[in-house]
Amino acid sequence: MNKRFYITTAIDYVNGQPHLGHAYEKVIADVIARARRSLGQEVFFLTGLDEHGQKVQQAAQAEGKDPQAYCDKLAEDWKAFAAKLALTNDDFVRTTDARHKQVVQASLTKVNAEGHVYKKTYEGFYSTKEETFLTEKDRLPDGTFDPSYGEVVVLKEENYFFKLSDQQQWLIQYIESNPGFIQPDHRRNEILGFLKNNTLEDLCISRPVARLNWGIPIPFDTNYVTYVWFDALVNYISIPAAHGDTVVRSALDPRPSTLDPLPLWPADIHVIGKDIVKFHAVYWPIMLKALGLPLPKQLLVHGWWQKDGAKISKSTGNIIDPVAVINEWGLDAFRFYVLRELDIGPDGNWTDAGFKSRYSAELANGLGNLVNRSLSMLKRYRNGVVPARSNELSADADKVIAETKSLLEQNELQKALQSIWSLVTRANQYVDRTAPFKLAKDPAQAQRLDEVLYNLAETCRILAVLLWPFLPGTATKIYAQLGLSGEPDKLSAAAWGGLSAGHSIGEPAALFPRKDV
Ligand code: MSP
Repeated sequence: MNKRFYITTAIDYVNGQPHLGHAYEKVIADVIARARRSLGQEVFFLTGLDEHGQKVQQAAQAEGKDPQAYCDKLAEDWKAFAAKLALTNDDFVRTTDARHKQVVQASLTKVNAEGHVYKKTYEGFYSTKEETFLTEKDRLPDGTFDPSYGEVVVLKEENYFFKLSDQQQWLIQYIESNPGFIQPDHRRNEILGFLKNNTLEDLCISRPVARLNWGIPIPFDTNYVTYVWFDALVNYISIPAAHGDTVVRSALDPRPSTLDPLPLWPADIHVIGKDIVKFHAVYWPIMLKALGLPLPKQLLVHGWWQKDGAKISKSTGNIIDPVAVINEWGLDAFRFYVLRELDIGPDGNWTDAGFKSRYSAELANGLGNLVNRSLSMLKRYRNGVVPARSNELSADADKVIAETKSLLEQNELQKALQSIWSLVTRANQYVDRTAPFKLAKDPAQAQRLDEVLYNLAETCRILAVLLWPFLPGTATKIYAQLGLSGEPDKLSAAAWGGLSAGHSIGEPAALFPRKDV
């Protein structure tokens, strides 16, 4: 079997309901997964939940629930959310899955056996809110700590540490010689700057059970559980192991697998937010090297959304509920806005006015209007029967097809949408310029009208294929309205001339109902 194109998202903390930021990241990964399938690659798309740690334990306690029961309930909501976003994930990992815990324990056993782990007493500052140790470097000039750390206490505790300090040099060299490893470039430069200007402190990978018991037991000392990152990051290899991936299995469990192996590792892309780059670009490669595993090919780092120029925050009520937006405007309008508004990299700002303006200009009046008037005229003037092939828009379409293909191969989603919309605009201008409604009044123009109607219907078909990774529901509707069976899910179908003369289309209907906004 061929190696799959393996794409993952960050796994979300389960101590609340999904918000815009979670949705954005999952939609990016879904579009890339669909695009790769459309390009003919075999894909494995993984997303899921990060369920251990103090916050979850406390949240469960606050509701009087056992943490597992608390996670089980929330996991249902998050899985329903993935379905609401029409994610095409091939698996859904929960860090409380037995298949995941086994691999975390096997990983700990191996790094410990090979001398990468030691125990020491730590005495110093600790943020209970962020579950993290702080050092002098974290102090503000006035000696206090950033309020985001909450209460900072002095703690003396024995814990296990994973050695990072002697690993800096090879990692710098690796990142320098593999420019594609961290994208976009400015995130790569930030990490290189961090690695060159700081000495890495070893990573604390345990918490005493006496203080935190909601975690995976450390196999060589059950008085401790694994602390979050050594648990969470391992999901990217635990699921390949569960699917029989031989690269991971041979590093962690040399016993032969009875499974038909699905070749997944190394991952092709980890899609993550800017706040967790250090964990993925520093700790994760060092962990993988210690495990004897190859590194993922790329970390694709997206920015953060704000709303109306301020941080999204439950406590101030400055939130976007993606489910409410989807219920009101449709899933594809949501997917379109987040991907068209914000390139992968910089931070973005959600405004309701901006959302409505893109909905009405680009979706309703742009794409929706083009498809609706093209198919309605074909229905009205030719009884829905496709006329003979004509190639007037084929050069424009070919250019956009080639451009979109190359942009999708580079994960340039925003630019791909811009390119696709250049064809929407071109075709709408073509309607205005050729004025088929006037041609229809003059029997001497029948052939010209045939040409125009063919060009429009065929452009709509090609748009459906190009749009499928982004707006799957809309693309499917365009295909159905064209009377075509199957899904527009293969980019190879985008070549000009797919509609044949004599084919009867289906019923035109508005794709994006106009709203009074
Ligand atoms: N559980 C860890 C990740 C472990 S990955 C091995 C975590 N979870 S999280 O729920 O806090 O965040 C999940 C993802 O959502 C992260 O990639 C994060 O950057 C992203 N976002 C959270 N808020 C966001 C915005 N406001 N905007 C965009 N993405 C944001 O971190």
